[in-house]
Amino acid sequence: MVKIQIMSDLHLEHDFLYKTFDIPPEAEYLALLGDNGSFLHHRHRKEYLAFLKRQLEHFKAVFYEDAKEILRAFKHDMETAAAVEGDKPLGELVILDNSRFDIPDENVTVLGATLFTGAPAPELLDEYYSTTREVCGLDAHSHIQKHHESATYLTDTINAIRYSDPSRAIIVLTHHGPCSKAIALGLGREDTPDEISYRYTSDLTDTSAWKSTNVMLWAFGGTHFNCDYVEVSTLKRVYSNQRGYIGECEDFDVGRIVDVTPPY
Ligand SMILES: [Fe+2]
Repeated sequence: MVKIQIMSDLHLEHDFLYKTFDIPPEAEYLALLGDNGSFLHHRHRKEYLAFLKRQLEHFKAVFYEDAKEILRAFKHDMETAAAVEGDKPLGELVILDNSRFDIPDENVTVLGATLFTGAPAPELLDEYYSTTREVCGLDAHSHIQKHHESATYLTDTINAIRYSDPSRAIIVLTHHGPCSKAIALGLGREDTPDEISYRYTSDLTDTSAWKSTNVMLWAFGGTHFNCDYVEVSTLKRVYSNQRGYIGECEDFDVGRIVDVTPPY
């Protein structure tokens, strides 16, 4: 059984809680699925990386979705310090960038990606292209391209695992949402997702990645609403645990654990 603490959208840049925000380690693994702080200003960056290092002191591995290049440089610096200065070894930082991590001694694989979002409905395309901000050098077109790369990576990898290792359980971790149903967006069953939700989530429910019964858990963030349910057709748990902006997600629980037990 793999136990993992999953959270996202801590938005520590809003209340500058990098130093004091506490994640009590209740499991061996921690997943931080994006939007947790800001790397844009030196002061934020320094505090944010110190926050991350603190988590690596407490967890065996931290799955992290965020600014990939900054994180790769940080990871390199940490590993160099541990090798040269004999610092206490830290947990492994697993950057979720169309990547695979096999949990040691368990028949469980973690697949991770930012995911981004695909193109919205045709009638919203003009608005999409005219209002989408460039983020980290990625314009509106690049977001869609990145989404397709991640969706293809997840589908291909899940299909390959299903063929080569059919009893392996898969956990998928993404920042953006994979399902645009109201329940996944944290809305009531009667509510209709508004058109703006295309900026946070896409609908992958027709893909073999989503339909695969090897995928036992798909966790994500980015929507600032939480959900936790089991999809009847695949028995997959669909999960988000987001803090959001101050006071937004009252059901956020920093100590909540999700466990995944392979069926065989
Ligand atoms: Fe967010």
